Amino acid sequence: MTAANTKKLYIKTWGCQMNEYDSRRMADVLAPLGYAAVDSADDADMVILNTCHIREKATEKVFSDLGRIRDQKNEKAARGEKMLVAVAGCVAQAEGEFIAKRAPYVDMVFGPQTYHLLPEMVVKATGERVINTSLSAENKFDNLPSESGDVGPAAFLSIQEGCDKFCTFCVVPYTRGAEFSRPLAAIVDEAKRLADRGAKDITLLGQNVNAWHGQNGETLGDLLYLLHDIPGIEQLRYMTSHPRDMHDRLYDAHRDLPKVMPFMHLPVQSGSDAILKAMNRKHTAAEYMDIIERLKKARPDIAFSSDFIVGFPGESDAQFEETMDLIRAVGFAASYSFKYSSRPGTPAATMQGLIREEIKSERLTRLQELLRTQHTAFNGTCVGKTMPVMFSGKGNRDGQLHGRTPYNQAIHVDAQARLLGEIVPVEVTKATATALSGRIATRETVLAA
Ligand code: 5AD
Ligand code: SF4
Repeated sequence: MTAANTKKLYIKTWGCQMNEYDSRRMADVLAPLGYAAVDSADDADMVILNTCHIREKATEKVFSDLGRIRDQKNEKAARGEKMLVAVAGCVAQAEGEFIAKRAPYVDMVFGPQTYHLLPEMVVKATGERVINTSLSAENKFDNLPSESGDVGPAAFLSIQEGCDKFCTFCVVPYTRGAEFSRPLAAIVDEAKRLADRGAKDITLLGQNVNAWHGQNGETLGDLLYLLHDIPGIEQLRYMTSHPRDMHDRLYDAHRDLPKVMPFMHLPVQSGSDAILKAMNRKHTAAEYMDIIERLKKARPDIAFSSDFIVGFPGESDAQFEETMDLIRAVGFAASYSFKYSSRPGTPAATMQGLIREEIKSERLTRLQELLRTQHTAFNGTCVGKTMPVMFSGKGNRDGQLHGRTPYNQAIHVDAQARLLGEIVPVEVTKATATALSGRIATRETVLAA
């Protein structure tokens, strides 16, 4: 393919790491058709908005971007050129018909389980509009091509999709469909290919990553043991886990496998059993605490992260305080927290006892203040420690690289560009609530650590 007939592909990604992974795979699928990724929609031959529907205002955001893209498409059309405009991801899945109706300049609307069909859909879209919101993930992974180009030192690997848990606030079971686990052999093959292409740090992804299961009853822990043996892979991470899917082997993996990083993103959502029940989480606050204690036993330095929702319908002041108590009892290194937002079609959307916006805001502010104190404290305990950091990209300024610590903290270090992609001992020198700074450790600091 010469530069002259390369087509420009711009993908904008919202939301979770699953979406980032999906965007990369869409670029891979489109590469054989001559599409190469660019950083801007200006003059692009194809624009894909890979959207997220998890919280409110998702559709509005998509339409505001689409307005700009429509103008760019019109400018191109005035020059006699074409721009294909596509909306993908969970907003496409949930609101496909609505988008197609309200935005006639959108050529393609397709959901997360259809990306392997992109080449056919692109060809079809030159003659007619394409709308595909099929929900079966069965064939998707088998039909996606291998990663193209350089995968980078830190790679994502999607092992599981969808969710059967039906938390009452959540759209995921409706937008991503039923739980689907990729076969073990396909995952191990992909991990080997990633390692061959230079990936040293692999993050396994899934909406319910620890619900992953192999055809012979293997669980995520078993998979980690297998991946641990692949030459070239130095660090293994995974997210997002669910408290209902904690299998013995996962604890064992944290105990036995040094390449499994000591970090666990385990959303609890609330510390109140009554609210957890209304959320259909199927676990109690005490069960969550037991998991935390067991993980600490397996890997004493493990760091915890969670998601929280405040102001779920019916949440009383006392129930909110139970969440604050749980936070105090665990001590989180990182977290995401949200005001409850009603999602159309979910059971919680029709529940009584809506919480006023001011109360939700006040609760969120208090909760985030507490969490921020904990994040700052956790990061502070790292100052003076030396830890292996995989440099995965260039920092904000020249002469700086950034990477992740074993505890998933972002860290910036003055380092030469040749260290990009290397795992290097770094002494942490400074910490804020959200990031660390450090310097390359000397022989002395490494020995002292
Ligand atoms: N309102 C607020 N937060 C939500 N999340 C999911 N659905 C909603 C909702 N309707 C949050 C949960 C979940 C994270 C990905 O997004 O905390 O774990
Ligand atoms: Fe949504 Fe609950 Fe499934 Fe997570 S476990 S994706 S919050 S339904």
